[in-house]
Amino acid sequence: MDLLFEGVHWAFELILLIFLILFLWVCVCVRSIRYFWKFPMPSAMGNAIAAGPYRNRAQPPSMIIEAIAARPGMTVVDVGCGSGLYTVAVAKAVQPDGVVYAVDIQEGMLEKLRKRMEREGVENITPILADAEGRIPLDDGVADAVFSVAVIPEIPDPVKAMEQIKRLMADDGVFAEAELLLDPDYPLQRTVIKWAREAGFVLDKKVGNVFRYVLVFRKEST
Ligand SMILES: C[S@@+](CC[C@H](N)C(=O)[O-])C[C@H]1O[C@@H](n2cnc3c(N)ncnc32)[C@H](O)[C@@H]1O
Repeated sequence: MDLLFEGVHWAFELILLIFLILFLWVCVCVRSIRYFWKFPMPSAMGNAIAAGPYRNRAQPPSMIIEAIAARPGMTVVDVGCGSGLYTVAVAKAVQPDGVVYAVDIQEGMLEKLRKRMEREGVENITPILADAEGRIPLDDGVADAVFSVAVIPEIPDPVKAMEQIKRLMADDGVFAEAELLLDPDYPLQRTVIKWAREAGFVLDKKVGNVFRYVLVFRKEST
């Protein structure tokens, strides 16, 4: 009996080890591919990344709401909104007279956002199809806050995108950049801080840990 128990125990540990090695191998492969070949996450995955309680728990929208101190009346821009998990949460926080401009490079993602807006009865969001690396069709200084969740490292020239974000911000505005370790494009905090400095930002505060973090930046005073 003891021998049988030990055998099952040993087999279980072996399977666990194989699973872990396979998982790490897939992570390394995906990260290597993404390092050399940047492209937007396919819109077919838009709902999957915002699914159920998992994302809500791993990277809760409240982190963004707190980081940008969202309050009624604010004008906010979500860069790389995807299917809108964070967009809708922030839009609710700035109601009744605040607005969120939701920018994404893929029409498929904006379609998913529109469906979420309908489902949740939220109307104070304006979807905008645009490349954050190019010119986002919004006026200079329009935003009290800009945020982006798991987007900046997906963009081939992150500094150019951050310069565009800076252009949209009011002089006293904030920019919150959030990342999650499970994302294949996950950058270290110091990498994001370096990009932001090059784009003319100063770090205001950090929230979270190595698993998930939000960095809040302000415009460098001139
Ligand atoms: C990993 S998804 C994150 C979506 C959403 N922020 C979230 O966390 O659920 C990255 C999103 O950024 C968008 N994106 C990638 N490159 C972009 C660019 N250059 N300009 C605007 N959006 C971009 C993608 O289309 C995709 O919707």
